[in-house]
Amino acid sequence: MNAIQIAIDGPASAGKSTIAKILANDFGYIYVDTGAMYRVVTLAALRAKIDLNDEQAVTQLLPQVDITFAPGEPVQKVFLNETEVTTDIRSSIVTANVSLISSYEAVRQAMTQLQRDIAAQGGVVMDGRDIGTTVLPNADVKIFLIASVEERAARRFTENQTKGMTDTLEEIQAAVAHRDYLDSHREISPLKKASDAVELDTTGLSIQEVVAAAKQIINQKIER
Ligand code: CDP
Ligand code: CDP
Repeated sequence: MNAIQIAIDGPASAGKSTIAKILANDFGYIYVDTGAMYRVVTLAALRAKIDLNDEQAVTQLLPQVDITFAPGEPVQKVFLNETEVTTDIRSSIVTANVSLISSYEAVRQAMTQLQRDIAAQGGVVMDGRDIGTTVLPNADVKIFLIASVEERAARRFTENQTKGMTDTLEEIQAAVAHRDYLDSHREISPLKKASDAVELDTTGLSIQEVVAAAKQIINQKIER
């Protein structure tokens, strides 16, 4: 298959990164986890102890935030200024603040640029919230993954338990729903299905079933 761009967007815990990573691996493409980038900026702001509500202070911090990735299993390794932060960016405190930080214009501009630079390197599967609408509006294939909020919370709960995190299912569901609300209602590049994206409801589907459905969508798009 020729190198193409595949954009996967959707709400929290819909399975985007799991599916995107498998597709990238199967196609030999670069996988870009854009959510991880916003999480790194949030972690950097927390560590700098600046007021997260101060958009200017967050903006001024950006030149000091260098984000890089390295291959890793089961997840890609993520680095902030060459220090590994793979686990730290998934903490509850980062998750609770990432929607605020990602609503800031300068943050979105910097991350979008970084994402486009990586995509320019070749075939790419990129997952996030605004890939099909803003980052790669000309992506060859756009998939919008959704699932019921109950199922998404249950998935995240199971995942967190394996990591020793103690948030209850109720807390996770409330946090997921709140983050979806913030991400969908922000002014710049809100979470939204691109008009030319194919929606895939993964409620009740296994990872293998979602991968199969995604490949069907990709093949249909490419054949056209
Ligand atoms: O994996 P999970 O669904 O928890 O979220 P994520 O993909 O790691 O993204 C974390 C947060 O980053 C989202 O809730 C958004 O606030 C923000 N984000 C964004 O604004 N734009 C993107 N393209 C990706 C993530
Ligand atoms: O990237 P996003 O936040 O959309 O979701 P994810 O991190 O890929 O998936 C969240 C959790 O749901 C992971 O633990 C996946 O293994 C799990 N999952 C699942 O159980 N069934 C699916 N069809 C997709 C993901």
